[in-house]
Amino acid sequence: MKVAKAASKQFKHILSPIQVGPISLKNRIFVSAHQPVLAENGLPTEEYIKYHQNIAAGGAALQITGAQSVHPTGMNEYNCLVNHDDSIIPGYKELAKAVHEKGGRILAQLSHFGATGWTGILDEPAWAASPVASEVMRVIPHEMTALEIQEVVEAFGSAAKRAKEGGLDGVEITAAHGMLIASFLSGYANHRNDNYGGSLNNRLRFLLEIIDSVHSQVGDDFIIGIRFSADEKVDGGINISEAKEIARRLESTNKVDYLNVISGTNLDRIQRWEHWPATPAPYGLFADLAKEIKDEVSIPVFAVGRITEPALAEEIVSNEYADMVAMTRGHIADPYIVKKIQEDRVEDIRPCIGSNYCIKQVLQSKPVRCLYNPEAGRSNKLGSILPTDNKKKVVIVGGGPAGLEAARVSAMRGHEVTLFEKSDKLGGQLSLWSNTPTMKEFKKSLKWFQLQLEKYKVNVHLNTEVSKYDLMDLDVDEIIIATGADAMELGSKKWLPKVYVNENSSIEIITPSQMLKSNITEFKKAAIWDWAGGEAGSQTAMSAAELLAKDGVKVEIISPFFTIAEDIHPTLRSPLYKRLLSTGVVFKPNSELKSINKDDLVIRNIYSNEEETIENVDVLVPWLGNQVNDNLYKELVESGLENIHLLGDAVAPRTVETATHEGAKLARKL
Ligand SMILES: Cc1cc2nc3c(=O)[nH]c(=O)nc-3n(C[C@H](O)[C@H](O)[C@H](O)COP(=O)(O)O)c2cc1C
Ligand code: SF4
Repeated sequence: MKVAKAASKQFKHILSPIQVGPISLKNRIFVSAHQPVLAENGLPTEEYIKYHQNIAAGGAALQITGAQSVHPTGMNEYNCLVNHDDSIIPGYKELAKAVHEKGGRILAQLSHFGATGWTGILDEPAWAASPVASEVMRVIPHEMTALEIQEVVEAFGSAAKRAKEGGLDGVEITAAHGMLIASFLSGYANHRNDNYGGSLNNRLRFLLEIIDSVHSQVGDDFIIGIRFSADEKVDGGINISEAKEIARRLESTNKVDYLNVISGTNLDRIQRWEHWPATPAPYGLFADLAKEIKDEVSIPVFAVGRITEPALAEEIVSNEYADMVAMTRGHIADPYIVKKIQEDRVEDIRPCIGSNYCIKQVLQSKPVRCLYNPEAGRSNKLGSILPTDNKKKVVIVGGGPAGLEAARVSAMRGHEVTLFEKSDKLGGQLSLWSNTPTMKEFKKSLKWFQLQLEKYKVNVHLNTEVSKYDLMDLDVDEIIIATGADAMELGSKKWLPKVYVNENSSIEIITPSQMLKSNITEFKKAAIWDWAGGEAGSQTAMSAAELLAKDGVKVEIISPFFTIAEDIHPTLRSPLYKRLLSTGVVFKPNSELKSINKDDLVIRNIYSNEEETIENVDVLVPWLGNQVNDNLYKELVESGLENIHLLGDAVAPRTVETATHEGAKLARKL
């Protein structure tokens, strides 16, 4: 690959090679272990292999597979790879070949989930150092006997042997995230009285035996890395000074080729979600921990955590915080990061905006998806963006995520594209959320789309509402209607809840989307009524709550669900709760709104029927769900025009991810 001059200068550290154990890696960017949830029966599928092959083609020097169980008591799920017997070897071979063909290197992350996995899949109890339950999984594990310890030690060795036979480049043993090995390492989780518990020496024994077992099976010409937490952030857990000692001890085995540093433990309710920080968490937030470890050892140290921009990656390597830098979600958003750096096209990198949609999917056992990279996890199925041999005039109405992606892909294929947007901004729901104090980062996605549309010469007309007559007058081949959806107003549909409204009420009623658009927060007390829920809607309602609370408005959130923001995944809900509850926002779950009086609201607990009055409310923000904006589409169809397509929320209100996917799919067919 020819590297552009400017790139080779500006990013000279991250583009430089590094020796990791027996292998020379071509640059310093790696993709840390992550489950794409694309396996079937524990084996890689075509889509799984394509997923990793794309990352290799994009130029990252190294990638690590998602955690795979080495023993039946350490299972996660069958849609992840499972390394319990030789049936995995053919799949490894295909995976290794696909990655090597594109110049990449790949390691298997070997794990035993301990108390953090799903038990019951194989009718086995969870195994751990001590019967300490994960606060999230809440399963009390079986305390392992000395014989069981030896069984797992051997299982790691056999699993590593299979990875080597499968042609992979090495293994990463995960001693992080509160999984089995971490449960031995950590004073928080290990309460044993035998020679595997107590002193650090004893707590390290299990990991050191695993390293010996793995090394005895694979020898020196196969990478062995260790992932571990340098600060578990729980009482009695591994802290940085203990982590330094662990790092020194691991290096002194002469069998470990690198240390991959992470923070927290999945055994803890809060830390469970914090090691994959969502926006607005700081960038590079665990790099300091990596530096502390790097100062202790001379083997390569890897850093991860919200490193989304090449400039930050460069800073981390050039300032010797770490030797390799993970841009993991960065590669889910855009697997071609390194290639674009090398070609001096950094501005073309589709930036990860920390939405954690990918994590939400995976933790629900669904294939990985990215909020606005429709190819993530489905590039094989979706197919490439190919130049057209039948150049058409394409008009798109609506500049939300569906319209933007349809415009981008159509224009990339060589069609002549015009996009009309009635508001003064592109982005639809993305733009709405980017108005909130905590989701400003979403603006990056809009900037990226804008740049791509400019680059591929899409004619964009903002502040332009078009009618069917305007469109009928145009000489075009394809019309795409992506006019989105709008929040429903109280009383506007028969199926919406019936609420008594006093006609002299002084309470202003404003939908959450209007609230985010107008940014007017001059109120004293607000009630957010999240009746409809749904991922996108609850997010809009919660963003409105945050906007108001930030400006000192007293906020109460009413919802019929068991918990507030039930549809928002814990990786986002946990920091959201921290922010809302620490600004005094009051939660009223299991409740519905009964009446809107002069200046108060009456709510009812849906289970006990008990009523409660919320006094002195001056604004009510009801989230009642969206309704489609498909009038223009219907009019065009009625007028007999052909080649009209309806996309995204205008079909049925859903998520940004669905919208961009539909745009991507349609534009490939035009
Ligand atoms: C979809 C997804 C799945 C993940 N699965 C694993 C895993 O199997 N093992 C692991 O050690 N870390 C896993 N992680 C955590 C990542 O390795 C990484 O630590 C985290 O994403 C933070 O890095 P980033 O900010 O560069 O994304 C996963 C992350 C994501 C996004
Ligand atoms: S879904 Fe969100 S967090 Fe995940 S890669 Fe895409 S932009 Fe980043």
